Order: sequence, then structure tokens, then C-alpha cells
Amino acid sequence: MKSISEELNLNNQKILLRLDLNVPLIDDKITDTTRIDKILPTLKFLISQNTKIIIISHVGRPKGQVVNELSLRPICDDLEMKLSQNIKLISKGIKEITSKDLFNNDHEKIVVLENIRFYPEEEKNNPKFAKHLASLADIYVNDAFSCSHRAHASIDEITNFLPCYSGLQLDLEVGALKKITSEIKKPITCIIGGSKVSTKINIIKNLIPKFDNIIIVGGMANNIIKYMGNQIGKSLKEENCDPIIKEIISLSETENCKIIYPQDAVVGKNLNGSPQTKELSEISSDEMILDIGPKTIGIIKNIIDKSNTILWNGPAGYFENPSFANGSIEIAKKIIENKKSNKIYSVIGGGDTVSLLNSLNVVNDFNFVSTAGGAFLEYLEGKELPGIKALN
Ligand code: 3PG
Ligand code: MG
Repeated sequence: MKSISEELNLNNQKILLRLDLNVPLIDDKITDTTRIDKILPTLKFLISQNTKIIIISHVGRPKGQVVNELSLRPICDDLEMKLSQNIKLISKGIKEITSKDLFNNDHEKIVVLENIRFYPEEEKNNPKFAKHLASLADIYVNDAFSCSHRAHASIDEITNFLPCYSGLQLDLEVGALKKITSEIKKPITCIIGGSKVSTKINIIKNLIPKFDNIIIVGGMANNIIKYMGNQIGKSLKEENCDPIIKEIISLSETENCKIIYPQDAVVGKNLNGSPQTKELSEISSDEMILDIGPKTIGIIKNIIDKSNTILWNGPAGYFENPSFANGSIEIAKKIIENKKSNKIYSVIGGGDTVSLLNSLNVVNDFNFVSTAGGAFLEYLEGKELPGIKALN
């Protein structure tokens, strides 16, 4: 893997830069800009080297269709403001444009291609699509560590068609994770939450042999709560998870890894509903689980006290509504308390988790903060990520 920061002959080169600008958006407003802010040094470096930059990113999961709410427009506006220069968003016909169509004059330095996941070819890792994207530039740079677990056209296949490099933020993330995994101190506790159940549930199995405790909270825990014979009403869940949960439980016994899941819950009638603490056996059919309850918080704090390393990915509840943020806040407070007294090493990952900690103004109170969620967990599994492999 060669870093773009080591390449000094970039004058006038067209750079195809894959970023992860998948930031949380509500009504076209960015609610957390961490992922944008972290890649500014890369953009500033490329600008200082007098390059032309073509940015590729996705937002959300539009599944190969144009979804207006998932436009990169708000992100483009934020970048324009932060870099004090005009940035053109190319919304139409990405499959038809040629390199000549991108920059009209010498003053234009940066263009952004509209959400790459509007094109089904992206997630299919389509070679023809990748080759076309490559034809727009001279050099490819991957600065999207948090997408590098996806074998998609703009991350994987594209590297077959251009000289390719890693970006500054990807270098930082991989460097830090390498160090963490080689120097990690036991007992290790991994807290996994969030709503992307399908992405994460399979990963847990592979993490069991590596860790002492795995605490499952958030949307994923609902499947376990149900598996244990409770009603979960309208809660978020993934279909057909029972076989994998069974496997997780039996593997945890043979590997001596404790699996912890919620013992009580805070429920609401909907995402904006008012909170009510309940025993797992009391959840009714019109309620949804939106946070962990006080009993569960106590159990988790106890385990954090007995750990030397904490890896945390994914919030414990629907923190976007303050009524359901308490579980995540209590976990954050406990980790920070133990880190301050030098009892633990703490690593946080994932877009939502970082956004939560930013809203509490505590991101700097952890040892390392990764922008990556799924990619971070897959890295911990010991897997070589497709996007990193492609750069090597
Ligand atoms: C993320 O937020 O995890 C990355 O942007 C990747 O998105 P994905 O999980 O939809 O592939
Ligand atoms: Mg993800």
C-alpha cells in the first residue's frame, strides 16, 4: 500500500478520490460532520499539490436508484464553505460523461460525482463501470477506510484500472488499528450496538474467540431478546436470525467468551414516543424497544470495571431522541471515567457512535476514535478488507 502523501509528482494530475462522506442527514441538514472534517487534510494536501480532484462517495443505502433525500448536495455545500472554493456537483449522466466534461477552466479544482450508490453497478463491483470511472482520472486514491470492507466498484474493481494510493485518513486509521490489535490488553470487552443488524450479526461469531466479553445492545439485541422467548412488539429486528444466535451462544461457551444482552428495556410506542422502563416479559405488541434499561446499564458498568480494553461500536438505543439516549450516555460516562483513571484503553468506532459522542462533546476522552463501523469490526475479526487488499 502506497500513500499519496509520499507521491510528490502530482502537478496537474486528475485524482479520483473515494471518500466516505456518509454523514447523518435530517431534512438535508448534516447532523454530524466528523467524516467530512477528517478528510479535509487530504483535500488540502491535494490542493497544495495543484491537482484536479474528482470526489466519489455514497450516502445511505439507495440500492441502485436515485433517492433525492440521499443527494450529496448538502455535503458539497459544507465542503465549499470549509475549503472556501466552488465545488461542482455532477448530478446527471455519470456513465456518459468524459474526463473533458468535468473541469471547464483552470479555476475549477474540485468536482463531486453524485451518490455513487444511485448506480446499481457500484455495489455489484461492475468492471465496466469501474473502468469508466477510472477513465475520468490519472490516479486513484482511497481515503474511505470506513467503506473498505465493501467490494464495490469505486473501492475494489477500480484499482485494476489506475495507479492507486491510500489517503491520509486511511493511513491514520489502519496505522492506529494495527497498533491496537497488536498491543491489546486482556480482558477485552467489545460492545456492539446500532441498527445495522445484518452487517454485524455475522461478525460477532468471528469475534468470540478473540474477546472475553461481548455486550450486545441496540437493534441487534432485539433478536436475542426474542430468541430467549420474549415478545418484542414492533421493535427493529432481522428475519431468520435464530440459527446464527444459536451458533453464537454455543460458540461463546466453548470459547469462554461471555455474551451479555439486555435484561430490561426502555420502550416507546414509536420513535417519538415517551419512554417507559419495562421488564423483558412485559413488552406489548404495540411497543418498540428503544434503549437498554437500568438493570442492563448496571451489568454493563460492572463488566467495564473488570476490563482492560473496551472496543465500542454502535449506540445502545435510539439516541437521536434524547428520551432513549440514556443507555448510550451511561456507557460513555463509565468508559470515560475508567479511562481517566488509566484503568482501560478505549476505542470507539462507527458513524452513529461518533456522532453521539460528538453531541456530548466527549470524543477526545477516548484513546482512539475510528470513523469506521462495519469496517472497524471486520478489521478486528482479522480479515483483510477488500478495499485494503486492492491497494496492496
Ligand atoms: C458506514 O457508514 O458504515 C459506511 O459508510 C459504509 O456504509 P454501508 O454500511 O451502508 O456499506
Ligand atoms: Mg456500515
